[in-house]
Amino acid sequence: MQNKMKVWVMGYRSLVGVTPLMSLRRNRTFAFTSSSDSALKWEGGVSMVQGASRGIGLEFVKQLLEKNELGHVIATCRDPNGATGLLDLKNKFTERLNILELDVTKESTIEASARSIKERYGYLNLLINASGILSIPNVLQPETTLNRVEKSSLMLAYEVNAVGPILVIKHMWPLLKVGGGSGTNRDVAVIANLSARVGSIGDNRLGGWHAYRSSKTALNQLTKTVSVELTRKRDQIVCILLHPGTVDTDLSRPFQRNVPECKLFTKEFSVQKLLHIIENAKSNDNGKFFAWDGQEIPW
Ligand SMILES: NC(=O)c1ccc[n+]([C@@H]2O[C@H](COP(=O)([O-])OP(=O)(O)OC[C@H]3O[C@@H](n4cnc5c(N)ncnc54)[C@H](OP(=O)(O)O)[C@@H]3O)[C@@H](O)[C@H]2O)c1
Repeated sequence: MQNKMKVWVMGYRSLVGVTPLMSLRRNRTFAFTSSSDSALKWEGGVSMVQGASRGIGLEFVKQLLEKNELGHVIATCRDPNGATGLLDLKNKFTERLNILELDVTKESTIEASARSIKERYGYLNLLINASGILSIPNVLQPETTLNRVEKSSLMLAYEVNAVGPILVIKHMWPLLKVGGGSGTNRDVAVIANLSARVGSIGDNRLGGWHAYRSSKTALNQLTKTVSVELTRKRDQIVCILLHPGTVDTDLSRPFQRNVPECKLFTKEFSVQKLLHIIENAKSNDNGKFFAWDGQEIPW
């Protein structure tokens, strides 16, 4: 009886570094069911966007907050204090946006985020891994020929683009559960990893970009492997890979010269398309690799 007792909790404030119970505020009513896992019932669902400081990740956070008036979003990034785009959103969506520090190359930060999410929300309905690197001046140069391939570039690209997202899934997996709130057609929890068409082996006609390309191929194989396990365990979680198109962000900017204007998407357009895929994900989509327009991409 006590376990099922319905308690009404008056609002909360989502400030970075403030514990959930300390941040309760008297301005809005949420249903809180004191169940065995003490999970708060977050009307509207709980989504996490990893790699949310800029570009496509930041746009996901914005659209998730705007589209679902009751939805809560956890945005993670390496440097919360320097993530100006997220801080602007935080001013507007103070209560529904929670910014946490997470660097995919530091597993301790992934674990800390998982702990914080568990304590505060109890679960996640959607996980989007949006982080990624293609080039970093003087550190990682996309290779145009085999002669330019460097061990350090290959290792760094694998670490950030393939290993990192899978470790994030590993730590968030116990939190994932069905739901997502109003406005979605989902009857599954969703993990969406931002991949790239250049990661497709079957579609590789141009060569080059060895580190980026192969790191996304590795991400694809790791994600597919996770999806098989999810099916075997009959978890109601769907794990998909998404190619956003060529999108006008910091990542693509140095390479946009040869991209026809009509093929260079705004991040607003691309994320709208990707959210449509996520919101309509079904269990038989598990393990699939989709382009922005919903077409499947060959492995
Ligand atoms: N833009 C395109 O045309 C395009 C095409 C195909 C696929 N994609 C993929 O889409 C995803 C988003 O790309 P984007 O265009 O939005 O790139 P972006 O604007 O360069 O943003 C990349 C994001 O990744 C984060 N990041 C980098 N290293 C990280 C780390 N170690 N830990 C956590 N976060 C890290 C960055 O955070 P900081 O601010 O801390 O650096 C930033 O938030 C990537 O996976 C990319 O490969 C993009």
